[in-house]
Amino acid sequence: MTPILQATGLVKTYGPTTALAGIDLSVSAGESLAIMGASGSGKTTLLHVLAGIITPDAGHVMLRTPTGALDVATQSDAERSRLRRESFGFVFQEGLLLPELTAVENVALALMLTDTPRAAAEERARRWLGTLGLAGLEDRRIGQLSGGQAQRVAIARAQVTGAPVVFADEPTGALDSRTSADVMSALLDATTGQGRTLVVVTHDNTVAARCSRIIRVQDGRVSGEWAAPARSTSPVGGAR
Ligand SMILES: Nc1ncnc2c1ncn2[C@@H]1O[C@H](COP(=O)(O)OP(=O)(O)O)[C@@H](O)[C@H]1O
Ligand SMILES: [Mg+2]
Repeated sequence: MTPILQATGLVKTYGPTTALAGIDLSVSAGESLAIMGASGSGKTTLLHVLAGIITPDAGHVMLRTPTGALDVATQSDAERSRLRRESFGFVFQEGLLLPELTAVENVALALMLTDTPRAAAEERARRWLGTLGLAGLEDRRIGQLSGGQAQRVAIARAQVTGAPVVFADEPTGALDSRTSADVMSALLDATTGQGRTLVVVTHDNTVAARCSRIIRVQDGRVSGEWAAPARSTSPVGGAR
């Protein structure tokens, strides 16, 4: 399949620390890719370079778009901001939701940043929250939700713009194993289940096993790659 993202020769150093030591990586449209590796191995740096949050010292990240391919790594700051708003969705470990806003406001905000009027944004946000099992909780503030519910709000926010690629960094890292399995199901349904692409950093073998492919990063390099065993869409996954 044609890659939606194709990274070549990614290098990133922080002073004496080499976070990425030359990474080549291809991500197919519609796949779910898990990035595993020890703490400090470069996973978050890789995700941030792929997503245009930081620029690498060397290398390219070609993104396929309906209007042609572009190199995320060499776009201007303004252009990378636009890509992050329109082409990419993000789910982080702690959600990074705005605690003083309600669930629906947090999700709608992502759309309003792409110039969708508030009423339309909130309507779409409500629909996604319902799809993610949060019907009835839309008007609660984030602090009034459980960790798993808050992560579902974060997933809704990452979906609502229709971004073709979703990046998740340890999205289940703060959850117990049962909630983690449920949130992973929601994340897969909302991404690959809709023909979107998911790139997820995780420490959790159970989470990784539910993706279609796993790579291991070690010392800023890709040290291994596996096609995941039989794909499971059941909430508990196939590899407990
Ligand atoms: N902003 C930064 N400044 C300095 N060093 C950093 C920064 N971000 C990451 N690093 C270093 O780069 C290496 C890779 O970090 P990171 O990508 O966060 O790893 P992981 O997500 O696998 O734990 C680590 O040694 C980390 O300390
Ligand atoms: Mg990390």
